[in-house]
Amino acid sequence: MDRIVSIHLDRSSSTPLYMQIYEGIANLIEKGAISYGEKLPPIRQMASFFNVNTVTVVNAYKQLEMQGFVKSRMGSGTYVSFLPEKKNFDEFPTVEGVASFSQETDNSMADAASHIKFDFAGASISPKYFPVKDFKDVVNEVLDRDGGYALEYQESSGYQPLRESIKEFMKIEHDLLVPFEEIQIVSGAQQGIDILAKAFLNFGDVVYVEAPTYPGAINAFRSRGAHIVEINMEEDGIDLNVLKKHLAQNPPKLFYTMPVFQNPTGYSYSSKKKQELIALAKKHNFYIIEDDHISDLYYREKPVLLKALDDGDKVLYIKSFSKLFLPGLRLAFLWVPEIYSDKTALAKYSSDISSSGFFQRALDLFLRKGLWCKHVRRLRKVFFEKWQKTHEALAMHMPQEVKYNIPEGGHFFWLQLPNGYYSMHLYELALKEGVSIMPGNLFYLSQKPTEGFRLSFAQISVQSIDVGIQKLSECIKQQIQNTYTIIQGPDERPLL
Ligand SMILES: Cc1ncc(COP(=O)(O)O)c(C=O)c1O
Repeated sequence: MDRIVSIHLDRSSSTPLYMQIYEGIANLIEKGAISYGEKLPPIRQMASFFNVNTVTVVNAYKQLEMQGFVKSRMGSGTYVSFLPEKKNFDEFPTVEGVASFSQETDNSMADAASHIKFDFAGASISPKYFPVKDFKDVVNEVLDRDGGYALEYQESSGYQPLRESIKEFMKIEHDLLVPFEEIQIVSGAQQGIDILAKAFLNFGDVVYVEAPTYPGAINAFRSRGAHIVEINMEEDGIDLNVLKKHLAQNPPKLFYTMPVFQNPTGYSYSSKKKQELIALAKKHNFYIIEDDHISDLYYREKPVLLKALDDGDKVLYIKSFSKLFLPGLRLAFLWVPEIYSDKTALAKYSSDISSSGFFQRALDLFLRKGLWCKHVRRLRKVFFEKWQKTHEALAMHMPQEVKYNIPEGGHFFWLQLPNGYYSMHLYELALKEGVSIMPGNLFYLSQKPTEGFRLSFAQISVQSIDVGIQKLSECIKQQIQNTYTIIQGPDERPLL
């Protein structure tokens, strides 16, 4: 209500009162004084504030909705659904971190972003953990050994020795026998998702995704004209009841999942849910894309891949080498049943002919020399310490109303603010304190305002975790307190 006070009605004007209220609120929204996701005051409260009939406010809100400023939700209220020009989502962090802030035109936010001291947003490990020395050695060795041949065009399916060493890697790491012909090298998991979408989908085909999910996948499916359906994630995997209801009505062609340490929630599927999912894929004849982005970074038991349970050739497996290794190499691989190898190879060829033969050779040597295992063992140790520090700090500082899980691996925690408190507001508040998080709305199809947000400890140093989480907790307390001071009734959700 504090910002609504600035709206003055001119009762002698020929402009109807509802239009004056509409213009006043629209103006505040456009300036960003009322933010995306905020709830407008209840109609009766507004009517009594302006001393007008409730119908006048209803008409003003209707006008706001027609012009796309707000959305009303049955039984809940009216919420701002408009992003001011200078503050649209492109300027909020990408899922890969805060790099996009450099182009930001909103100076205050750009300024705040450049003062980030506690980065809980970044999703890739910090370059300080990259094995640069070992990598330099293998790069030199490749050039000495292969000379110019290392820089020629490569076979589209991938550098043969690398495909062999991946086969060996899957045997040693997961006790899985991957037929050599079923391995396709791709330029990163993002390309892997895109290639599978290209190979398997026709315009209008249905794809199920987890909600929340990795937005890069949504974009890839959208670009193929897919009809995307979100299925709610629970702490032990997808909500099977909802999944079954959808399957009965509208089965998909593809189901995209991260069964281990999901991005953004850090949740993992129970073995029961993994088995049920495979059984459902066989029954309803759809394919599952398993995006294995970080299963190597476990802190308790080694996770079992969904692919390991696939007794019906229903899982199309993707493994990225970006998340724990060198994202700039742009290397990942697909494991698809042989009957689809040609289809995926063709899709790969028409995308970029082949992934860098030079980097494939370097990765091959890196794997063969046992340097990958050495690197990942080291990372697991460092990240275990950060993981411990993060949940200790959360237990120590977070207000009780904030709910979160303890993931068994990876570097994401998913936190839930109390009902009606949106993480986009928290994101703005925290940024001013030099703390960055990833607001949850970015991980949904509609990017609807949400209470959830992702807290990643990929980038932050172990020494900064406690202070960073303490600061974040202070912002949350402030967010909750400020809105409570405005709310009059006990059942009301936050106002402006
Ligand atoms: C779940 C998930 N899948 C795929 C990707 C893309 O990875 P890559 O760098 O291998 O393309 C990302 C990157 O953030 C991710 O988080």
